[in-house]
Amino acid sequence: MRRIALINQKGGVGKTTITTNLGHALALAGHRVSVIDLDPQGQLAASYGIFRTPSKGIDQVILNDADPSTVRLGIRDMLTLIPAGAKLQEVEYRQDGGASRARLLRQALEGLMTNQAFVLFDCPPSSGLLAANAVFAADEVLIPVNGDPMSLNGLAKMLTTLKKFEPYLDRPVREWIGLNRYFPRRRLCKEIEAKLRKHFPEQLLNTSIHEAVVIAECPGIGRTIFEYKPSSRSAKEFMRLAEELLERHTESTTYSP
Ligand SMILES: Nc1ncnc2c1ncn2[C@@H]1O[C@H](COP(=O)(O)OP(=O)(O)OP(=O)(O)O)[C@@H](O)[C@H]1O
Ligand SMILES: [Mg+2]
Repeated sequence: MRRIALINQKGGVGKTTITTNLGHALALAGHRVSVIDLDPQGQLAASYGIFRTPSKGIDQVILNDADPSTVRLGIRDMLTLIPAGAKLQEVEYRQDGGASRARLLRQALEGLMTNQAFVLFDCPPSSGLLAANAVFAADEVLIPVNGDPMSLNGLAKMLTTLKKFEPYLDRPVREWIGLNRYFPRRRLCKEIEAKLRKHFPEQLLNTSIHEAVVIAECPGIGRTIFEYKPSSRSAKEFMRLAEELLERHTESTTYSP
């Protein structure tokens, strides 16, 4: 099983978009996938067409020890979703439990996910307790980065945050960087890609997701790119991203549960 957190404290970089479409791509490729919404904004459910946000979700698992299987929804073939739930924000404010507060999710999910090939966590745009829980529960993080200079600042901050977690982790977490909203005709975008390739040759994924109107249209209609525009370049890119992560598994795996 591979647990991957889509994480970046910078907002609007594509965490939810990639969770939604990468999750569906992996399921279409025949893998059993669970996507978990760790963002109190709760948009992941809507991205799959569930517009009335379920009131119970991962919040109940973390806060009230609910059995994850009671809040898990089958949403597509091979694909299940655990929505955020109405009380998820409360996790950020929890004062009890010391350092173990960051391990709540990992403990809660142990056992449940053994029959899953992939678990994807859609993180909020912050570096608080919810993001910490995702890092502790994950084996890999995928940091989406956009092709603008501010994104590089965001990436640097994110890598610093991850470094701070390292001493408390009992295993290394593999870092991936994925370029999203890629626009190669913009000179700045090419420059940023070159910088990433120079400084993070191991982490930067070869598959970039181009800026595309069809991607932005998907969440509003609650369909993934494979349902809305299956023959688009964007659909091919998300499938390629899934394939790349599958291919780079052995090379990347430093920890097996
Ligand atoms: N490659 C792309 N092309 C066009 N639009 C995109 C692309 N990726 C994301 N978007 C759009 O950009 C917006 C932000 O994306 P998304 O919600 O996935 O980011 P996020 O990192 O999850 O944001 P937040 O930090 O608020 O959770 C959305 O409207 C989404 O549809
Ligand atoms: Mg999001």
